[in-house]
Amino acid sequence: MQSLISAAQTQDATAAAGGIDPADLAISTKSLRKVFRDKVAVRGLTLDVRRGEVFGFLGPNGAGKSTSVKMLLGLVKPTLGSARLLGKPIGDREARRRVGFLPEHFRFYDWLTSEELLRVHGQLCGLRGDELARRIPRMLDTVGLTPHAGKQLRDYSKGMLQRIGLAQALIHQPDLIILDEPTSGLDPVGRRLVRDIIRRQKERGATVFLNSHLLSEVEVTCDRVAFIRAGTVIEIREVKEFERSYRNVVARVGRLAENALHELEAWGTEVRLKGSYLSMRLHAAEFAPRVVQYLVEHGVEVYEFTPQRITLEDRFLEIVSGDEGL
Ligand SMILES: Nc1ncnc2c1ncn2[C@@H]1O[C@H](COP(=O)(O)OP(=O)(O)OP(=O)(O)O)[C@@H](O)[C@H]1O
Ligand SMILES: [Mg+2]
Repeated sequence: MQSLISAAQTQDATAAAGGIDPADLAISTKSLRKVFRDKVAVRGLTLDVRRGEVFGFLGPNGAGKSTSVKMLLGLVKPTLGSARLLGKPIGDREARRRVGFLPEHFRFYDWLTSEELLRVHGQLCGLRGDELARRIPRMLDTVGLTPHAGKQLRDYSKGMLQRIGLAQALIHQPDLIILDEPTSGLDPVGRRLVRDIIRRQKERGATVFLNSHLLSEVEVTCDRVAFIRAGTVIEIREVKEFERSYRNVVARVGRLAENALHELEAWGTEVRLKGSYLSMRLHAAEFAPRVVQYLVEHGVEVYEFTPQRITLEDRFLEIVSGDEGL
């Protein structure tokens, strides 16, 4: 049942993007699959990311996020399926030049200074001369590394390396930016920096595809998110839907008999009464008035009735635990 629901939701979300001209998609994958020996890392990823959106790719450790990204970038060969980046099949060199990538574990040539590293990456992406010379200090400034520009990378801290990793992903003003855990190792100032960078890239018209475990950051930066578990997309959602998803309810009540609790399970789960506080999780936000009506009709005194928002983190935890619900 759950998998039917999930499949339907996934199809709906894909259909929502499906009316779009394929040229307007930054990423489009069809049944992308990767098996490492006997381990299915990615089960069959079908996903459309529109140009200009910030898309979050979320899932627990080992869900297949990095493997999916590596397949898109031609770093891991798919076992089955196909994908297009910026309208071109994966492996197309021109399209790849218009992609910026921050890997999960970026290995740097640690004898280079950050200026030299940016020069190499800029040149690999086709930048030359004055244009490249102008962009290097600007990028270092963007990621807050100007005071350390001449230092060899082997003398950088973890967070500083992460910052230079971001800079190399952005130096050529790519149309698509793929960031695998960009905030990993960063202090709160660095995390805010990543958030601002993503916002500015979106304003510039770039598409950002983001793997992240920092759900509060995802909630403020992403337009849509996909939740994946065990190599399968469980659900794709607009982030603004979470602003409207009031499904937890806490009510202060009087004269509620214990045996009425069972009846409330018609509209939700985890129905509990502690002292005069009734709490439950509604199957859908639309059931709130029905619960109030039921309570009133059964002589319960309702002093307070407060629906609470389900956050992206709540939803993530539900999906990780395998309790997707409706
Ligand atoms: N080169 C490899 N050889 C064998 N198995 C691999 C390889 N790379 C990944 N895997 C396996 O594939 C699965 C998915 O790994 P992946 O790195 O894509 O997960 P992830 O979602 O990025 O996790 P995390 O949140 O920890 O970064 C894991 O079970 C992992 O052990
Ligand atoms: Mg990963």
